[in-house]
Amino acid sequence: MDFKKEITNILNEKIQDLSVSEILEMIETPPNSQMGDYAFPCFKLAKLFRKSPNVIAQEIASSVEENKLFEKVQNTAAYVNFFVDKSIFAKNVIEEIFSQKDSFGSSDLGKGKRVIIEFSSPNIAKPFHIGHIRSTVIGNAIYKLYEFLGYDTVTINHLGDYGTQFGKLIVAFKKWGDEKEVEKNPIPTLLKLYIKFHEEVENDPTLEDEGRLWFKKLEDGDEEAKGLWQWFREVSLKEFARVYDMLGISFDSYAGESFYSDKMPSVLNKMEEKNLLNESKGADIVDLSDYNMPPALIRKSDGSTLYITRDITAAIYRKEHYDFYKNIYVVASQQNLHFQQWIKVVELMGYDWAKDCVHVPFGLVSLEEGTMSTRKGRVVFLEDVLRKAVEQTTDIIKEKNANLSNIDEIAKEVGIGAVIFQELSNNRIKDYTFSWERTLNFDGETGPYVQYTHARACSVLRKAGIEIDNGIDYTLLSNEEAMDLIRDLQKFPQIIQEAARKYEPSIVTRYIVDVAQSFNRFYHNCPIIVEDEKLKKARLLLVYVAKQTIKNGLRLLGMKAPEKM
Ligand code: ARG
Repeated sequence: MDFKKEITNILNEKIQDLSVSEILEMIETPPNSQMGDYAFPCFKLAKLFRKSPNVIAQEIASSVEENKLFEKVQNTAAYVNFFVDKSIFAKNVIEEIFSQKDSFGSSDLGKGKRVIIEFSSPNIAKPFHIGHIRSTVIGNAIYKLYEFLGYDTVTINHLGDYGTQFGKLIVAFKKWGDEKEVEKNPIPTLLKLYIKFHEEVENDPTLEDEGRLWFKKLEDGDEEAKGLWQWFREVSLKEFARVYDMLGISFDSYAGESFYSDKMPSVLNKMEEKNLLNESKGADIVDLSDYNMPPALIRKSDGSTLYITRDITAAIYRKEHYDFYKNIYVVASQQNLHFQQWIKVVELMGYDWAKDCVHVPFGLVSLEEGTMSTRKGRVVFLEDVLRKAVEQTTDIIKEKNANLSNIDEIAKEVGIGAVIFQELSNNRIKDYTFSWERTLNFDGETGPYVQYTHARACSVLRKAGIEIDNGIDYTLLSNEEAMDLIRDLQKFPQIIQEAARKYEPSIVTRYIVDVAQSFNRFYHNCPIIVEDEKLKKARLLLVYVAKQTIKNGLRLLGMKAPEKM
């Protein structure tokens, strides 16, 4: 039963001048349930009917004939308010969730459409720091949302494994490095070398030239350069794998920047053909002044390519290889200009699919002591954050529930979940300051709170120990707390679609906090395991579908839903 459709049909008979789809679009959800479950605003009709919107709303409301789907239809000012029959509504929502279970909220909206989600993309030989957690966690949630909506998804980790900095690192390693130390503690050791390079450059600027030379050698396929680079890449990837493992994330492709090194010449030729390249002091640039942007530097005077060249090449490769419907990049807002520039260049090359490349930016993370700086060694490692969160959770669980059987596993699910949830709590574009205290605080609207609510629901169902089925008397769920919860549950499919459309997982995060709160109000005010068998069965079914919805929401955010906590 689709109430919105039913309302549209009723209204369509009365307002011939609006099409079915126009009416459907105008139907709103009132801010609170005292004003009904659906509302139809009449402002737009004033001109058409030559009457005031209030009068129109009143006339429409009073002309609606009796209909068993609606308890009542009445107007408040310029709105026609529809109050659905509670038990029909409850039955509708609950049966849908009960029959769909793990796939409740999914759809086939994306059938046959391939969407690439590029996210995480850390840099080789550099720390996987808390700045990367944003791309990693937001990107993973966006991937799960699209997957759930039936899109054919491809996840790509565009590793930063190429560029001048590798020339510098090779120089630093050759001068000051120690193989054993790198093997033992790869990223911190490589990071130290990188920092040392930048310190030494202050006294000896020729080091910069040496670094450039070694990158050029790498691009030209020099054995020694390639060998060292490959080794840096391998040891770094091993470290990254540990973090991905903890987060339960994997990628379909790890084609990083270096993957495109042999694909760039033909792209440069194509730019040449299109007359896009201008020479400037021996370098090649694309002039973007017509679009109010600084020029895109495509090739340096020594012939070496740049980050932007690799992005352009990667996009063209992806179109040819994957024929995407959308190519999504979850990358920090500091790179807004970079994305605007290269997407414009792709468009100027004559590729009309440039419009299908979407940059999904997110705000800056800074530390309480200032912005993060890899060169200055001012970084917080993501792995440390995850480990600390797990340790602290273990302590809390031991204190509260010492006889829990698999504490380690649950502490991992809750601790890491807390970090993910906090990351996804705010609009992605907002900047924020990382604080250990906030991340490890489990009170309030946090991941552990939602997970605990889920575990509480599981515990009630376990205790009841009866088979849950949907053959219940739905009029028993018409009290306020039950209805508020059911109304929340009903929104889930729309929430998923909105979050995917806006590339905004925080919509899901905030939604499941609402569901958890409604559930807890229901749980506190409506005893569930009661004498009255019929009432018990009805309330248990609602507990079951609420639990299912929370679980589906957590899964889409990349979190686990433990059954005991
Ligand atoms: N490796 C880059 C960084 O850590 C992010 C790469 C973003 N993706 C892209 N296609 N440019 O800042």
